[in-house]
Amino acid sequence: MVFSGKWRLLRFIILITFLAVCCFTVYIPHLTAVPPKQVPGWELNVTRDVTKYINTGNDTTVISGREICEDPSTFIVIIVTSAPQNFAVRSAIRETWASHNISYVKVGFLIGLPRNNTLQSAIEEESFEFKDIIQDNFIDSYNNLTLKSVVLLKWFLHQCPSPIFLMKADDDTYVDVQRLAKRIVKMPHRSILTGVLICKAKPIVDSRSKWYTPKYMYPHQHYPNYLSGTGYVLSRDVAYKLYEAALKTPIFYLEDVYLTGICAQKAGVRPRNSEGFNYYNVGLKCVPDLITNHRIKPDELRILWSQRENCSLVKPTRNPKKKKFANSCH
Ligand SMILES: *[C@@H]1O[C@H](CO)[C@@H](O)[C@H](O)[C@H]1NC(C)=O
Ligand SMILES: *[C@@H]1O[C@H](CO)[C@@H](O)[C@H](O)[C@H]1NC(C)=O
Ligand SMILES: *[C@@H]1O[C@H](CO)[C@@H](O)[C@H](O)[C@H]1NC(C)=O
Ligand SMILES: *[C@@H]1O[C@H](CO)[C@@H](O)[C@H](O)[C@H]1NC(C)=O
Ligand SMILES: *[C@@H]1O[C@H](CO)[C@@H](O)[C@H](O)[C@H]1NC(C)=O
Ligand SMILES: *[C@@H]1O[C@H](CO)[C@@H](O)[C@H](O)[C@H]1NC(C)=O
Repeated sequence: MVFSGKWRLLRFIILITFLAVCCFTVYIPHLTAVPPKQVPGWELNVTRDVTKYINTGNDTTVISGREICEDPSTFIVIIVTSAPQNFAVRSAIRETWASHNISYVKVGFLIGLPRNNTLQSAIEEESFEFKDIIQDNFIDSYNNLTLKSVVLLKWFLHQCPSPIFLMKADDDTYVDVQRLAKRIVKMPHRSILTGVLICKAKPIVDSRSKWYTPKYMYPHQHYPNYLSGTGYVLSRDVAYKLYEAALKTPIFYLEDVYLTGICAQKAGVRPRNSEGFNYYNVGLKCVPDLITNHRIKPDELRILWSQRENCSLVKPTRNPKKKKFANSCH
């Protein structure tokens, strides 16, 4: 009796342990497999069809930016994508690198709609004063930057017919317009898509990152080679091809990967590296062949601008090998 009682108890304990282990192995995956975080504004339930946001047949600008492109001798138009509230940043750009005197280069700003209506009247006043603003009717937000870049192509193709070249720049980018112009005038007028080439980049799976990429938005191992969005240049034929490709390509919210990577690949356009374009802050020292410098605060813009005369005297001290392959795919 004693023996069989003990045996039963042992069997009972084994059974309970077994059941507990089973429950654990069945339930634990459910506990840990939290659904992947979605990108705010681009959740699974939101359409990523570009044609739902871009009205291709009609002008949708709130502020047309007509004056930016009035002069038919304009060869290059540089459009700075700016956030509605960045008045001080735009002001610093106007006082510095946008105040170059090269007749065939024009600079303008593209913004969307502010979430805060009280900003709108300030933007209209700013536009009235400087006549360098384009505003289109989409909500301006970081996660809508892809829409902003597609709108930029639409505007360039339909409302800015003269220039051969378009440059897109961020509003924290310093552009040396003189060197840029010198570089661009030597380029062929077709098939140009150039800036800082980024190769074989992997999508970031950490959901805390600014560039977090869930599988539902981009399922592949690597991005196509693309150009950093801090500053890139394209010719009119390429603008047309990228725009057409974008209308058939679901939105991916990182605009540079989307337009100069995914859409370019679809359109059969190859993005190429160009020396002198930088997507990080290379500092305030003189870099003789610098064309763009990034993460520049308004005060730093002013310092870079005030140094430009001195900088143009500094001879390039190149280490050709190092220079040539920095930022390129080799
Ligand atoms: C989509 O889902 C998110 C949460 O997952 C929700 O906040 C949002 O309101 C939904 N949007 C639409 C258009 O249904
Ligand atoms: C474009 O504008 C025309 C004329 O204002 C209007 O009739 C048409 O419905 C608009 N199309 C779209 C897609 O909004
Ligand atoms: C552009 O020209 C104006 C008028 O000649 C002059 O005042 C200004 O300093 C020039 N700006 C630059 C950046 O050279
Ligand atoms: C809108 O912007 C104005 C000016 O910057 C600010 O005073 C106001 O608090 C903002 N309103 C909201 C609702 O954020
Ligand atoms: C982007 O803009 C569209 C059009 O205004 C708007 O419906 C959408 O909510 C915006 N999305 C984000 C992520 O801001
Ligand atoms: C330019 O260089 C001269 C001589 O080195 C120096 O005295 C001057 O302060 C520099 N100016 C600026 C704006 O950096």
